[in-house]
Amino acid sequence: MRSCLPLALLVFACSPVFAQRLPGNALPEHYTLHLTPHLNSATFTGEETVALHLQSASSDVTLNAVDLQLTDISASAAKGSSEPGSVTYDTVKQQATLHFARPLPAGDVTLSLHFAGTLDNKLRGFYLSKTKTRSYAITQFEPTDARRAFPVFDEPAMKATFDLSLTVDTGDSVISNTNVLSDLPAAEGTHTVTFARTPRMSSYLLAFQVGDWACRDGEAEGVAIRVCSTPDKFAYTGYALKAAEHFLGYYNHYFGVKYPLPKLDLIGVPDFEAGAMENWGCITYRESSLLVDAKTAPASDLDNVALTVAHEMAHQWFGDLVTMKWWDNVWLNEGFATWMEYKAVAEWKPERAILEDRGFDLNRTMDVDATPSTRAIRARAETPGEITQQFDVISYGKAGAVLDMMEHYVGPEAFRKGVSAYIQKHEYANATAEDFWDQLAESSGKPADKVMSSYIDQPGMPLLTITSAGPGRVTLSQQRLIVGQQASPSDALWSIPVCFTGVPCQRFGKRSETIARPASINANADGLGFYRTQYSPDLLAEIIASAPSLKPTERINLLGDRLSLMRAGVANIGDLLDLVGALRDERDPQVFAQMLQVLQVVEGRVADPVQDQKVRQWSVRTFAPEYEKLGPLPAHPTEQQSLLHAVFFDLLTSAGDPNVLTEAKALAERSLDGDKSVDPELAEAAITATARRADADFYDKVFAVAESATDPTRKTAALYDLPYFSNPQLVARTLDYAVSGKVRSQDAWVMLVLQMQRTSTRHQAWAFIKGHWDQVMALSTMFSGPQIISSTSGFCSEADKQDVEQFFATHHVQAANQALPRAMHGIESCIQIRQQQNASLDLWLAKH
Ligand code: BES
Ligand code: ZN
Repeated sequence: MRSCLPLALLVFACSPVFAQRLPGNALPEHYTLHLTPHLNSATFTGEETVALHLQSASSDVTLNAVDLQLTDISASAAKGSSEPGSVTYDTVKQQATLHFARPLPAGDVTLSLHFAGTLDNKLRGFYLSKTKTRSYAITQFEPTDARRAFPVFDEPAMKATFDLSLTVDTGDSVISNTNVLSDLPAAEGTHTVTFARTPRMSSYLLAFQVGDWACRDGEAEGVAIRVCSTPDKFAYTGYALKAAEHFLGYYNHYFGVKYPLPKLDLIGVPDFEAGAMENWGCITYRESSLLVDAKTAPASDLDNVALTVAHEMAHQWFGDLVTMKWWDNVWLNEGFATWMEYKAVAEWKPERAILEDRGFDLNRTMDVDATPSTRAIRARAETPGEITQQFDVISYGKAGAVLDMMEHYVGPEAFRKGVSAYIQKHEYANATAEDFWDQLAESSGKPADKVMSSYIDQPGMPLLTITSAGPGRVTLSQQRLIVGQQASPSDALWSIPVCFTGVPCQRFGKRSETIARPASINANADGLGFYRTQYSPDLLAEIIASAPSLKPTERINLLGDRLSLMRAGVANIGDLLDLVGALRDERDPQVFAQMLQVLQVVEGRVADPVQDQKVRQWSVRTFAPEYEKLGPLPAHPTEQQSLLHAVFFDLLTSAGDPNVLTEAKALAERSLDGDKSVDPELAEAAITATARRADADFYDKVFAVAESATDPTRKTAALYDLPYFSNPQLVARTLDYAVSGKVRSQDAWVMLVLQMQRTSTRHQAWAFIKGHWDQVMALSTMFSGPQIISSTSGFCSEADKQDVEQFFATHHVQAANQALPRAMHGIESCIQIRQQQNASLDLWLAKH
């Protein structure tokens, strides 16, 4: 193992031997692959040939395989006869090595073999998904699970072409990456579906979905588009199809490269671990992220579908056509798609103000990145466990936000040109972070590479401080912001595009600098910078006084900054609450949601029970009159109007306003009784609000929807409402239900995590999880296991911290080495903020 150089410069110098990577002597060119799944016995068999190139003569070839039995192995070179082979397995490395008696020559070699495996029950590889009536065979390969379905050189840079065919039951169809080339009867009761050859692609993007799919057909710019589901959900395929048709045209133009395949399918599958997966031409989704009733669903569900469709379609270019060389750069995929999903939806539905949601997300992302246990965007990832952990808020939220900042800095058209050039230059191949930012620097003529590398390879984020420095001058300085730890000196330095309102962004890369004071002192124009800003008191007063004239995203950012600085112990909680109070006549729903977020942090993370009650009373006194002024929701509200009402509902019901609680209960019951005239957004907020204080009768109503609704978003909403009940008997019912086997494992962990997030249910949920650990783990996957650990970060006492720590010392969870320290820091920081701010909160309460 080499020694580590300072992280800021050379992340790669820290990587040890590439423990689990393939040797690299054999490079695949083309696979011919035939599979026969047996849904009843949950098994499959297959035959495969791989044309590959050997860099040097060798008597063995290593590829990836997990839980597969390989037989009938042989190899042949261009000249020479077929050579039989044997196999050994390395289960730790997830590899199979094929051995041949005589060395295979350098150059072109063809392997052929048979294999057999079982359909997984952990939502990965080639797995079984069940409905009440039948089974489906589904693939989910990213990041490292293609090797569970067939022997494969399973690394993103080992691109190859694929000729795929499957033999399945008569009556079932198969959807894969490309068009069906032929469909012929096979052995009794089956048929063989053969697909057109794929372009050169990474193995993690191959896909094949077996079942009785029902598809709605569409088209855009010459590409056949379908949205598919199990037959009972066909009615819900329309909205996603419209979205996909729109985005295809938008992306063709944006990337300057036409969608590379003749068809695109989007499939809602009954059991799915993630939200969605960008398999090339064959995108899979959780049903609730794709299948929605556009007439009755809350706007937020429609937005979620649109964003998810836009996200996965962006990957068809960024990720599928051009792929990161290795998983340490997975942010190139996920950061980009996260950034693009908002841009595409904002263009499709401009009236929706979706970019303000992004401001809200940005605050949450920065909150994580300000913790001591954050990581650099580009980070070591060698084992499957390490690779899985790359799919976190840093690769998604932070990388997406950095791209947002970059677009703002270089300008949208220069940014688009850079993206387009990058795609064209690396199509059907692989690229790195440098390839991307070099292109951006070239297209913009600005030092985009300097800014990006400072954000991609350093962990954490900067705090920009602005102080008056005499008449007409201000001093900027930067340091790393760390919340929840005594500020430890850090010599990290970022190259920050600082954007004052009304003047072009200026790159600031020094520790400190004094400049001429800009006319507007707002140092984060549009709220797109990835930094927190602290102003000297005179300047802060100026900013707060000008709050009404700031843009909504800037007000969201201002609130986020003040909350973060309060958490860091730099700002006072009283000032923060004063700011929320001063913004009482805010009418932008996203800004309002951010105000609610501040109140929730104060209630849940700072206040003791007595203070909590008082803060809630203050909230009612402050915001109930505003709600009165708002008046009732008009008959045909805009989405923004519904959202605003819903946030008011949330705020006032959780604060305990009796009038609004009564109103919410009435609305919730009407909605659950099937009254379609209740605004769906409001109905959802009313149900959650009512659940918090409700009894078994109301629970039964919500439960009935969770059990029996066909509409995927309605069913999921009801299921996720169950954790909001606070009555201990009902909490117990939800916990039992979650692990009963009647809830899909894709949903069970979400329900547990939601209960862990709420003060009133947390302790009961934690006791249950500990007591039913085997059941909880049986439902958990590589992704959801660590989520259970993360959810303990809501605790806020030394005793709970020790309890959690002790429990996980003896209860192992896969792929979770980052989750536990992060959760511990969360608890510690809560304890610390409470101590720091308790007296100030008392003082403030005494005055109000
Ligand atoms: N590539 C991911 C899916 C994925 C995540 C596969 C982690 C393997 C490991 C996909 O593009 C994605 O990001 N899906 C998101 C939804 C999106 C709208 C943010 C998800 O699953 O949450
Ligand atoms: Zn993605």
